[in-house]
Amino acid sequence: MPRKFFVGGNFKMNGLLADIDRIVDHLNASHLDPNTEVLISPPAIYLLHVRDRVKKGIEVAAQNCYSEKQGAFTGEISPLQIADSGIPWVIIGHSERRTLFGDIDSVVAEKVRAALEEGLNIILCVGETLAQREAGETLKIVEHQLDCVKREIGPWAEVCHRIVIAYEPVWAIGTGKVASAAQAQEVHADTRTWLASHVGKEAAEDTRIIYGGSVSAKNCVELATQPDLDGFLVGGASLKPEFVDIINSHL
Ligand code: G3P
Repeated sequence: MPRKFFVGGNFKMNGLLADIDRIVDHLNASHLDPNTEVLISPPAIYLLHVRDRVKKGIEVAAQNCYSEKQGAFTGEISPLQIADSGIPWVIIGHSERRTLFGDIDSVVAEKVRAALEEGLNIILCVGETLAQREAGETLKIVEHQLDCVKREIGPWAEVCHRIVIAYEPVWAIGTGKVASAAQAQEVHADTRTWLASHVGKEAAEDTRIIYGGSVSAKNCVELATQPDLDGFLVGGASLKPEFVDIINSHL
């Protein structure tokens, strides 16, 4: 079955309520490719508001979660609370969580397990730093990040339709230095090969592998032509009207 193109907007810690309303209202008023799955991820404080304002067909995601159900974890949000709020998706393992907030591979894996247990769908972020790429370690790093999750969650094939993998080279995030189509395709193809050998051929074919890192309306069309690139996770450009162009880049 062909993989449905997937475009997510990660707002990060950007926007006040009026900005979030402007972005959501623009999306609500726009024609969005019905063959593309669209998701937005606002700051946590606005999740319920966006859930109630966004038009049917646009999914909403939390940008992170903790790995416990409830308890003395000040400032954290649990997968159970995200699910209880009617938010079906969560982004886990974003490089900013990994580099700034201590989400090491084992923490990311535990969060994925906990989110799956609560029935959430997951955008699992993986990617290498510039130093790792320059050392020729890109594929090794990405495969290790995937393997840590596989070891934690067990039968990945049973939940592969609930995990979208986002390859986000750290050196391309927020820098304007987008990966070339060839660079992205190499990692996406290797990820799909890794899935085929470690999770299963069918799961590998069914899993969406999306790209994130300085995606814009200008560079998304060429990237979207790559055979193993199934969509985008967009940061800065998701706050702008061009986000609609990126959503429709697959038309
Ligand atoms: O999660 C997507 C984000 O990391 C990419 O950010 O601003 O480079 O599109 P940006």
